[in-house]
Amino acid sequence: MSHSTDPRPMTVRRSGPLRGTAQVPGDKSISHRALILGALSVGETRITGLLEGQDVLDTAKAMAAFGARVERLGQGEWSVHGVGVGGFSEPEGVIDCGNSGTGVRLIMGAMATTPITATFTGDASLSRRPMARVTEPLELFGAQITAREGGRLPITLQGAADPLPVRYRTPVASAQIKSAILLAGLNVPGETVVIEAEPTRDHSERMLAAFGADIRAETTEEGHVITLQGRPELRAQAVAVPRDPSSAAFPVAAALIVPGSEIRVPGVSRNPTRDGLYVTLLEMGADIAFENPREEGGEPVADLVVRHGALKGVVVPAERAASMIDEFPILSVIAAFAEGTTVMNGVAELRVKESDRIDAMARGLEANGVRVEETKDSMTVHGMDRVPGGGRAVTHLDHRIAMSFLVLGLASEAPVSIDDGAPIATSFPDFLPLMQGLGGDLG
Ligand code: S3P
Repeated sequence: MSHSTDPRPMTVRRSGPLRGTAQVPGDKSISHRALILGALSVGETRITGLLEGQDVLDTAKAMAAFGARVERLGQGEWSVHGVGVGGFSEPEGVIDCGNSGTGVRLIMGAMATTPITATFTGDASLSRRPMARVTEPLELFGAQITAREGGRLPITLQGAADPLPVRYRTPVASAQIKSAILLAGLNVPGETVVIEAEPTRDHSERMLAAFGADIRAETTEEGHVITLQGRPELRAQAVAVPRDPSSAAFPVAAALIVPGSEIRVPGVSRNPTRDGLYVTLLEMGADIAFENPREEGGEPVADLVVRHGALKGVVVPAERAASMIDEFPILSVIAAFAEGTTVMNGVAELRVKESDRIDAMARGLEANGVRVEETKDSMTVHGMDRVPGGGRAVTHLDHRIAMSFLVLGLASEAPVSIDDGAPIATSFPDFLPLMQGLGGDLG
């Protein structure tokens, strides 16, 4: 889908205590993977709790373009009749992945070892993002790639007819690179191996195992090593998508900084490879309880109960960055309300997300009276008793920047505005009514 939605300016005012239950949407990473693995298996995969954000809808459309039968049965309930590993057919049109780095990178991987050709495109944000990190390893399998200057979209990919197995060490911590290689490895005889310095989110590994692939992960002196045996027959599964800890982070942050708040966020994934924000918040002294821990859809989940309270600044170590990579924008907002200074290390990857998130947060926080320092790969936020607000933040087509500043304004002295809230629909379509339902004054 093309996203030529008009910009939607929004304003948020200081709000009373937030109360109630926040039903956050399904996990974005798991939703993309459920559709893609469903499309690559034999039989009907039933998905419940799918995130119906634009990013995931674009992936659903792409899977249909590659030959899978994809149907929406009800709210968050989807059926995918797959074509089997190596069964993708050549799409007729261009595959538009909209705003989604995960979508385009994983789908390129999934088709790179099937002898078909496809052209991928995306919105202005996605077209600026680096793709060579994925296309280079895909070329090792034998795929041929034509990209714009700097390896950017649009990209035409011709899948390998006689793919070779690949052993690859990822140059940056990225679950998207890892997942693209594993998905490509599915249609290759022999073993495909990915080595990462630090473990990144492991949803692909968990779900590949659940669909019947022979995949193992081990920590050796080389690093975190994932080995996949090629050419499995993937069998369709029922996938229950847990709620997204990255989306939960926004109401959680709001409850932490708005005095008197107490909210409940049920069924949130507590996958250890995604848990870094929550570890950090506990170190800051946040009042968060994790109730009813249980397993759902192969992932650990819990109900979060969050209360407002005093917070103190902390130093976030670089090794934790991968497990909270999408949460630094909202952490920088929380840090503005903490006592003392919060330092976020090892965050260079933030510069190549939907926007340069270090720059976008630093400029927006400064516009609202918060002191921020940045380096190439770190950000420091100086907390204050009262955050002045009163500024306008530029969101650069980035949903998480938009939601972060809307949370800031719930607890700042003067209203905060953003130039464009439309991109929020990529990951959290009901963000506005959900926050209003908790008592937030925004719109
Ligand atoms: C994702 C991986 C991360 C994350 C993105 C989702 C995934 O990106 O930022 O929102 O689903 O694999 P990188 O792999 O580029 O770090």
